[in-house]
Amino acid sequence: MPLLLTPRDVAQIVRAQGIAGALRRLAHAIEADFGRWAQFDKSARLASHSRNGVIELMPISDGVHYGFKYVNGHPGNTRLGLPTVMAFGVLADVATGAPELLSELTLCTALRTAATSALAARSLARPDSRTMALIGNGAQAEFQALAFHHLLAIEEIRAYDLDPTATAKLQRHLHAVRGLRVRACTGIAEAVRGADIVTTATAHKARAAVLHAAMIEPGMHINAIGGDCPGKTELHPDVLRMARVIVEYEPQTRIEGDIQQMPPDFAVTELWQVLQGRAPGREHARQVTVFDSVGFALEDFSALCWLRDSARELGLGSAAALVPELADPKDLFSLLGTAAAKAPAPTAATAALTSA
Ligand SMILES: NC(=O)c1ccc[n+]([C@@H]2O[C@H](COP(=O)([O-])OP(=O)(O)OC[C@H]3O[C@@H](n4cnc5c(N)ncnc54)[C@H](O)[C@@H]3O)[C@@H](O)[C@H]2O)c1
Repeated sequence: MPLLLTPRDVAQIVRAQGIAGALRRLAHAIEADFGRWAQFDKSARLASHSRNGVIELMPISDGVHYGFKYVNGHPGNTRLGLPTVMAFGVLADVATGAPELLSELTLCTALRTAATSALAARSLARPDSRTMALIGNGAQAEFQALAFHHLLAIEEIRAYDLDPTATAKLQRHLHAVRGLRVRACTGIAEAVRGADIVTTATAHKARAAVLHAAMIEPGMHINAIGGDCPGKTELHPDVLRMARVIVEYEPQTRIEGDIQQMPPDFAVTELWQVLQGRAPGREHARQVTVFDSVGFALEDFSALCWLRDSARELGLGSAAALVPELADPKDLFSLLGTAAAKAPAPTAATAALTSA
């Protein structure tokens, strides 16, 4: 029977490993999987767009396991008391097709996005980076701040959100983290000025330009995670023109990322090439770099494997009775019980229904 992991189980895994430990293990798993890029059967995710948002399916397989994530993106949801992003996923055995794990991935998406951002920044940000502007202080924000603090030694977060209560929440959650200051800023320009790294994590279903070229200083690294579907961007095209741009999976990012605004021949490099040392990351100290992140299925595959292994180590999760357990695998009908076959002859009413 597949193992079921709820948000409570995933939170328990993070508490047991510590947030820094969990982010490190995840980053390590994601890096290892980017390191065997050619082994994966990859495709751009399947997106179903509607007026308020998008619902996406993200499949991938390494030939041994098959994984997929269901995820939505509805920027207006928080006004309805629902998260912008909600997700769950499955890991299955390729040899039999049997599902092994069914897990919540809302919390896990925030963790894996932050781990991937930090992993990319390790090659793209200046090694002496200590300050990060964080524009958009919603559900993803604490995870981004903590990943950059623990994995890249960021010491100061300059936070800005259109909604001051989101920034106050970020400050409240992080005030006890030793060696990390969170300073609330009154605008984007103030937050970005002098920052080594700029993370944009805004949610607005529009061609937004949260960052303009005039705000960008030589040597900055921009970690843009909120422009992640058609018609939803965060960077002015001039910011992209002045930068070395790294993407996860080019066919998907051309449609969904900030580079959707650029011509099809606009030069980008895939992250796996940088992580495997086949292409340079940052080339010099004054270069502007952009990680145009949209989220790729491989990162969720790595996260599902991390969850499965962690749950086994800690004895967490419960059996999900999703798949029938049959004494005779050809006898599916037995699940209905003997009474089903002996159902009484149809009445006039049920006969009318079945012929309708
Ligand atoms: N790249 C990835 O892998 C990945 C993964 C998860 C989420 N995302 C995206 O990241 C974004 C943030 O997700 P979330 O779950 O934190 O959403 P959220 O709704 O919880 O938070 C978004 C915040 O952005 C703020 N905001 C919107 N426009 C702004 C602006 N112009 N300036 C400053 N603040 C602004 C909102 O007030 C809100 O507090 C979403 O667009 C989501 O789709 C990307």
